Parts: sequence; structure tokens; C-alpha cells
Amino acid sequence: MMLEEYIAAHSDDEPDYLAKVNRNTWLKQINPRMCSGHLQGRVLSMLSKMIQPTNILEIGTFTGYSALCLAESLGEDGSLDTIEIDDELEDFIRESFHLSPLGRKINLHIGDALEIIPTLNKTYDLIFIDAEKEHYLDYYEITLPLLRKGGFIIADNTLWNGKVIKEIDPHDKQTTEIMRFNDVVKADERIEKVILPIRDGLTLIRKK
Ligand SMILES: C[S@@+](CC[C@H](N)C(=O)[O-])C[C@H]1O[C@@H](n2cnc3c(N)ncnc32)[C@H](O)[C@@H]1O
Repeated sequence: MMLEEYIAAHSDDEPDYLAKVNRNTWLKQINPRMCSGHLQGRVLSMLSKMIQPTNILEIGTFTGYSALCLAESLGEDGSLDTIEIDDELEDFIRESFHLSPLGRKINLHIGDALEIIPTLNKTYDLIFIDAEKEHYLDYYEITLPLLRKGGFIIADNTLWNGKVIKEIDPHDKQTTEIMRFNDVVKADERIEKVILPIRDGLTLIRKK
């Protein structure tokens, strides 16, 4: 048995509606590995419950799995804005959100996050960055002012399949940009940070 299987077996199961989103994603999407899935989903749910946010922002919806996990902590007055650039995913995402009453707390924005974020007139308690790796620093700089003091950013894929410690191929823009993101975050004194080696690397950032 792989250690990851043991961890999943000894952590909470995913709710049925999330298992369905995951299954539909693997049946119908070309790149299903992008879906957070069972274990990371439970981690996102637990972190969200620890942070107890009222307003959550997600960059990169894909099929809606992580949005539904993060929304598990939302109270009556809570909401989650999620942004997805691929308009062909819209129907799929809306179907995912219809599978759970939590879907009513989620506002889906279709378009480029870098264009939509400046139109969102809100302060966020929790921001999940999980879109184009080449723009991680842009997402970070554009969202940090929207994050309340003491609020958290979670950035996914910051270990990028271990490529961050391998010799860099200068043409590999995604790895280069993830490494630049990690370096800038490390040096940034406006925040506290720690990388969790979960799945592909989750960086937790707290605004001072
Ligand atoms: C890794 S997937 C997100 C997975 C999802 N958060 C989950 O954990 O289940 C990244 C998504 O970001 C979207 N994306 C890429 N660039 C974007 C942008 N500039 N604005 C909004 N979404 C973007 C992609 O189309 C893709 O669906």
C-alpha cells in the first residue's frame, strides 16, 4: 500500500456529491488530474474550517471540486467567488454546483482572472490560487491588496512535480515562474509563509 493511500483511508471520505464531481471530471475532461480530488479536497476543507472565512476567492475553477471543498466552511452570510477562463467549462461547473446546496453560495465568473479581479469590490479572508502557473506572481500581487490583514492565501502546485529542485530548462516557463513565485514569496516581509508538501505542494501565506 502506498503511504498516500493509507493517508486517504485514514482521513474523512469525500461527500457523495464531490465523488460525483471527481468521477464526472475523470469521465469527461481531457486533463482530469487538475482536479484537487479526495485528499487535497479534505485538506482544503479543513483549512477553510480553521480560517472560518466569510468571503473566499478562488482563481481557477476547472470542474468546481475545490470551490465546493472551500465553501464547506461558509456560514449564512458567506460566499465564494470563483473565476474560470475556459467558457466551455461553464455548463459542467454549474452542474457540479447544483449537486450540493453549497453551490448557492458560489458565484462563478467566466473570464480572465487578471481582468475580473479588479472589478471585484470586496475584501477576502481566504484566496486560493490555482490557475495558470506562468501568472502566479501576477495573481499574488493583484490579490494581496484584497486580502484582509490576518487573512490567508493558499497557492497550489508550488512544488511543481519536484521540478523546483531540478536543473532548470530555461524554455520551461511554468517551472521558471513557479520558482520565481516561491522566491518572491519567501522574501516578502508583508506576509508569513510555509510550504506544505501535500500532493503537488500547497503554500500557505498569511498577511501580516
Ligand atoms: C488546475 S485547474 C484548477 C483546479 C481546481 N481548482 C480544483 O482544484 O479542482 C486550473 C484552471 O485554471 C483555469 N485558468 C487558467 N488561466 C486562467 C485565468 N487567467 N483566469 C481564470 N482561470 C484560469 C484553467 O482553465 C483551469 O481550468
